Amino acid sequence: MEQLVIKGNVRLKGEVFISGAKNAALAILPATILANDVCVIENVPCVRDIQVLLQSMEQLGVLIEYIDEHKVRVDTRNIKNLKVDYDYIKKIRASYYLLGALLGKYKEAEVALPGGCNIGSRPIDQHIKGFEALGANVKVQHGIIEASADKLVGTNVFLDMVTVGATINIMLAAVLAEGTTVIENAAKEPHIVDVANFLNSMGAEIKGAGTDVIRINGVKDLHGTEYMIIPDQIETGTYMIAGAITGGDVTVTNVIPKHMEAISAKLTEMGVIIEEYDESIRVIANEPLKNIHVKTLPYPGFPTDMQPQMTAILSKTPGTSIMTESIFENRFSYTDELNRMGANIKVEGNTAVIEGVKQLTGAEVAAPDLRAGAGLILAALAAKGETVITGVEYIDRGYEHLEKKLTGIGANIFRVKEKADKSMFKVV
Ligand code: EPZ
Repeated sequence: MEQLVIKGNVRLKGEVFISGAKNAALAILPATILANDVCVIENVPCVRDIQVLLQSMEQLGVLIEYIDEHKVRVDTRNIKNLKVDYDYIKKIRASYYLLGALLGKYKEAEVALPGGCNIGSRPIDQHIKGFEALGANVKVQHGIIEASADKLVGTNVFLDMVTVGATINIMLAAVLAEGTTVIENAAKEPHIVDVANFLNSMGAEIKGAGTDVIRINGVKDLHGTEYMIIPDQIETGTYMIAGAITGGDVTVTNVIPKHMEAISAKLTEMGVIIEEYDESIRVIANEPLKNIHVKTLPYPGFPTDMQPQMTAILSKTPGTSIMTESIFENRFSYTDELNRMGANIKVEGNTAVIEGVKQLTGAEVAAPDLRAGAGLILAALAAKGETVITGVEYIDRGYEHLEKKLTGIGANIFRVKEKADKSMFKVV
């Protein structure tokens, strides 16, 4: 098992280049199946979830060729298998997009029920409701979802709650359906727009992505395309907070500042100086910071995927801050780990009451999921002494070249193979 060793309390300074959006890539790569052609996708992040997804696509008969580290040629002309094994699915939740893409193209798919980060119960009833509304028969048995249809016909789907996954999956299933599909109460996240733009570049007719009503006019065929994925909103936000929590001066580059508004606004409210440029944001800490209240909401609200990182900085911000989680029910399990680092956080239901402490201190902590892991890393960067973080495999799901990027702005962070190896590294 690998661990990250961080010696904190160092002011971070410099530039971080942000990678492509993991959650956009996790949908765009399966969407290539709809073209039955060759697509070249650029700005694909080099993270574990993508590697697992690409392996599961190869198992279907898709030919994957890396042109360079972030540019992938995907040839979906020889798909021979419409079943996705549990071995792949249990590792990543987004494999459910293979269901929408295979159903949309071949009117048949079999995918094991998804796994993913442990952040609460994660039903997919809205995905199933959408597929059924389009005319598919969907059966869930023995942990497998089977979907099939003679044909898919456009229809109106009103989502019971704002869900990113169901919005994208219904788009995937509807682009080749007969007639028009309208998704109401759709999610508006930047990667929904990116997936719609990608599908349109293959010849789809999707309008309204980024609003809560998406209209999809079904087309007969799609074709291959070249497409560049947008930058990762959550990776950007994580490095912005890395600058702010260490009293530093960090510029994130290759970003879309508009996507960062909710995060920039909250940091500004805390007193952090945010300078926005065309494709970069400079974050200058301006201590002491002010306590704030935050509630996670669907986009354009404050993202749930930034909740642990924000809680980390609030844990060392003077005064009482309140964090309310409104998307997932089990996303505060990491607060016990922060408390082991000297934080003072009490969780009741979906609310965390955070009493800011003067100084966090290094400890041995375990990351329970991807974003919680990011929150613990941020706390460790600001903490006095050494922190050892286990559960690195979760963090690797979504952060490309983490140590390299953090070292580039002055952090002391090392990856060690096993606990025993730690003594081999003297962190200065
Ligand atoms: C996506 O998950 C992201 N994953 C998550 O990112 C992110 O936390 C989440 O959206 C919210 O922004 C990917 O894009 C691969 P949802 P998703 O459907 O699509 C409920 C990360 O760290 N719901 O928007 O699975 C659900 O339980 C990850 O990168 C239903 O009840 O989330 C939740 O309360 C983790 N029925 C809410 O909706 C459904 O059929 C929003 O979930 C679907 C969802």
